[in-house]
Amino acid sequence: MAKLSHAQWSSKMTFILAAAGSAVGLGNIWRFSYMVGDSGGAAFVLVYLACVALVGLPILVSEWLIGRRGQKNPINTMAELATQHGKSKAWAAIGISGVLAAFLILSFYSVIGGWSLSYTLGSVTGAFSGQDADGISALFTGMLSSPGTLLLWHSIFMLLVIVIVARGVTKGLEAAVRTMMPALLILMLVLVGYGMTTGHFGEAMSFMFNPDWSALSGGVVLAAMGQAFFTLSLGMGIMMAYGSYLGQEVDLIGTARTVIILDTVVALLAGMAIFPIVFANGLSPGEGPGLIFVTLPLAFGSMTGGTILGLMFFLLLTFAALTSAISLLEPVVEFLEERTSLTRVPATLISAILVWLLGIAALLSFNVWDGPVAFGFNTFDLLDNFTSKILLPLTGLGAIVFVAWCLDRASVQRELGLGSTGGTLWHITSRYIAPIGVICVFVGGLI
Ligand code: TRP
Repeated sequence: MAKLSHAQWSSKMTFILAAAGSAVGLGNIWRFSYMVGDSGGAAFVLVYLACVALVGLPILVSEWLIGRRGQKNPINTMAELATQHGKSKAWAAIGISGVLAAFLILSFYSVIGGWSLSYTLGSVTGAFSGQDADGISALFTGMLSSPGTLLLWHSIFMLLVIVIVARGVTKGLEAAVRTMMPALLILMLVLVGYGMTTGHFGEAMSFMFNPDWSALSGGVVLAAMGQAFFTLSLGMGIMMAYGSYLGQEVDLIGTARTVIILDTVVALLAGMAIFPIVFANGLSPGEGPGLIFVTLPLAFGSMTGGTILGLMFFLLLTFAALTSAISLLEPVVEFLEERTSLTRVPATLISAILVWLLGIAALLSFNVWDGPVAFGFNTFDLLDNFTSKILLPLTGLGAIVFVAWCLDRASVQRELGLGSTGGTLWHITSRYIAPIGVICVFVGGLI
């Protein structure tokens, strides 16, 4: 008995780590902090937390449930479950839009992964030590203004992703991440500790948690919901694919709660580490996508052991980015493998080259091509906004609507291990609260 329960525990643990490996990435540290800064602070944070709990949790559970039932890739899973329940095969569109989202996201994700790589090297060579805020900002602006440098790092990052995916060493990397994730958490705590010594910690906490509701608008709420989808890897079929590996005995709601708490803690710690540095150095929280790159090196430059800590931080961030990037490339490769006669290696190469090309368009947005290309956005912002604010919410909405309206209520309730009160609560949340929430935010944010 003891052996059996241990085996179950360890398979559940493995699953949590794999799901958290996809979820915890640049989204938590890079994207979360710059979005908070851009959107005026606490009001964004609180709406984001509400979205994670009310929309993120039920959608995560729905994606896993669909994946566990279908046991196939997201497109075929959706087609099959829909047919089984007498619904249109058009539900497979959810899988397809997920693949498209993965493709688009990876293109700009890789550019930022490249920045993280470059800063890892910068920490080794001591490029940041002894620099003041102006010096650090100048280094960052210098990198942005050079298409060649950005291209080099974007290419190296994509190359690492290709090698890992093509050689199938994903497993080994996941094992490595298992030790790296706790290390990243500890480093974040050290950084928060540093933040407390700056004398601006209180100001940062108030910026993050004491809301000025006048900063709230439909656009900010939509951005917060988009961030919730992005950071939890929702709305892309990724979590559906993960669900197909889940054993029947695993408690979906409990597991989702654990993954969500882990993911949220990393994001909040990132904010608590970064904003004290922002205020202590008179920087602007609304710095944009460069926020962590103009703040964290300052902290590493002035704390004891900062060189080593900085190196470890950017290395761990790069690894977190790599695991998420792999989970983004995987569905694209699978799609090509299945729809064409390509085998794994050429399918990986072709997907990666297409992603890489689109990434070049994204990185040029920081220099030679910084003007708007559509809706007032440059390519980078367009890719980021279109995926997080439109594709991910719509795909996630499809997943939860499918579970709540197309599958039969009793079997879902049994599968989630819910009694009658829990079942009713799930029913109301999944049928009405979460979908209506997504639709309202969506419509409110776009008009
Ligand atoms: N969640 C990851 C992050 O926070 C990024 C990511 C990986 C992702 N897979 C995804 C985002 C699927 C959306 C959909 O960095």
